[in-house]
Amino acid sequence: MTSAPSSERSVRVAVLGCGNVGSALVGIVQDRAAELAVQSGARLEVAGIAVNDLARARGPHVPQGLLTTRAADLVVDPSVDVVVELIGGLDPAANLVRAALDAGKPVVTANKALLASTEGVALRALAKKRGVDLLYEAAVAGAIPLVRALRESLTGERIRRVMGIVNGTTNFILTKMGEQGADFADVLAEAQALGLAERDPTDDVEGYDAAAKAAILAGVAFGYDVAGADVMREGITGIRAVDVEFAERLGYAVKLLAIVERTGDDAVSVRVHPALVPRTHPLAGVRDAFNAVFIEGEAAGELMLYGQGAGGMPTASAVVGDLIDATRNLLAGTTAPSPDRKPVHLLPEAELESQYYVSLDVTDRPGVLAGVTKAFGDHRVSIRSMEQEGIGGEARLLFLTHLAREGDIRATRDALAQLDTVERIGGLIRIVGDGE
Ligand SMILES: NC(=O)c1ccc[n+]([C@@H]2O[C@H](COP(=O)([O-])OP(=O)(O)OC[C@H]3O[C@@H](n4cnc5c(N)ncnc54)[C@H](OP(=O)(O)O)[C@@H]3O)[C@@H](O)[C@H]2O)c1
Repeated sequence: MTSAPSSERSVRVAVLGCGNVGSALVGIVQDRAAELAVQSGARLEVAGIAVNDLARARGPHVPQGLLTTRAADLVVDPSVDVVVELIGGLDPAANLVRAALDAGKPVVTANKALLASTEGVALRALAKKRGVDLLYEAAVAGAIPLVRALRESLTGERIRRVMGIVNGTTNFILTKMGEQGADFADVLAEAQALGLAERDPTDDVEGYDAAAKAAILAGVAFGYDVAGADVMREGITGIRAVDVEFAERLGYAVKLLAIVERTGDDAVSVRVHPALVPRTHPLAGVRDAFNAVFIEGEAAGELMLYGQGAGGMPTASAVVGDLIDATRNLLAGTTAPSPDRKPVHLLPEAELESQYYVSLDVTDRPGVLAGVTKAFGDHRVSIRSMEQEGIGGEARLLFLTHLAREGDIRATRDALAQLDTVERIGGLIRIVGDGE
């Protein structure tokens, strides 16, 4: 049995937000008080819980008397030692976090939108200036201990690439499209019915959520300050069931990947897009709403971290880890390592190199193929393999290319669109993890 440390020092925690994650956090802090006291060196005491609506039902583990709508007062309350921000979004979270840091209080947050904004860059600088922690393990891939692994265990590693499935909603949708042969819209509706997708799914399916996480990873893995808005981004709304089926037939799974890749001494490519991943690659086996992050380092080789990337309890688990860290650091008068960030040179999209999968619906008559392959050749895109199948009076052509420049494949696409024999350009999907 665990017991509280003899000093019985208490650290008072302001919790901002008591939704999915906040209420789970409050539950853990109360239920496991003695264990957490041993881990952190102090008794963690919830000083107050800021919410929007006092009347909302919150379950028995949330003490009604601690709820307040006055978040701005709570963060600067002199009796509060640490602030945990679990409201989400920019407003009022940014001002609250700034006020807490300004008052010299460590902050723990799960707010990827805030961290990937220009405001996030300023807040990190402010925390450093004030000599307090700003910790955000839960902001990328929920329960997966990724930020700390990159920041501490792999701090001496020269990382080549980090690529991950960091959005559970889209991974669920793509998994079901592959397994059921169902269309995007049908699976999205299923995900919404199961509570795995928001009523407005734009943030997830258009890749904004993953782009914010990619931006945060660029900072943690490579030390570059990148904003979510600067991340090359393509979502999954254009993925058709037929392309997922073809990809599977060719030995690939379709995944939405967030990729941060060193492309030169001072350049990095930060992007989010659907990708064909070889079935033999560890990321291809990550199913349903699970997340996983694959790290390639020069000395360490390949590593993969896998787990639940969302949900109240898994996310709160990562928040508790940060809370303990912040408490230990506070008691020791220190902070977690926070190396200075470097200016970033983002690789221009046109210069990205990849292999591609391209599917075309064409008129089924002699000579069509010659025109199509000429469009590839004219733009320096070399074809690795081609398959053809008849669909009524049309034919479907499937190409896999060798390594090509993004600018060249886009020019090829534009040239193909000009051909009157090409009825439709179906999928144009990058191939990742196939020995490139
Ligand atoms: N949910 C996940 O699986 C997950 C995973 C990873 C990271 N995150 C991040 O964790 C954070 C919290 O997410 P969540 O899912 O817990 O959100 P949520 O369920 O929507 O909860 C948000 C909470 O913030 C409160 N709130 C809203 N406006 C406020 C204001 N002006 N002042 C004080 N409180 C206010 C709400 O109060 P009421 O309850 O009164 O409305 C609610 O309790 C977000 O940054 C999110 O991106 C979530």
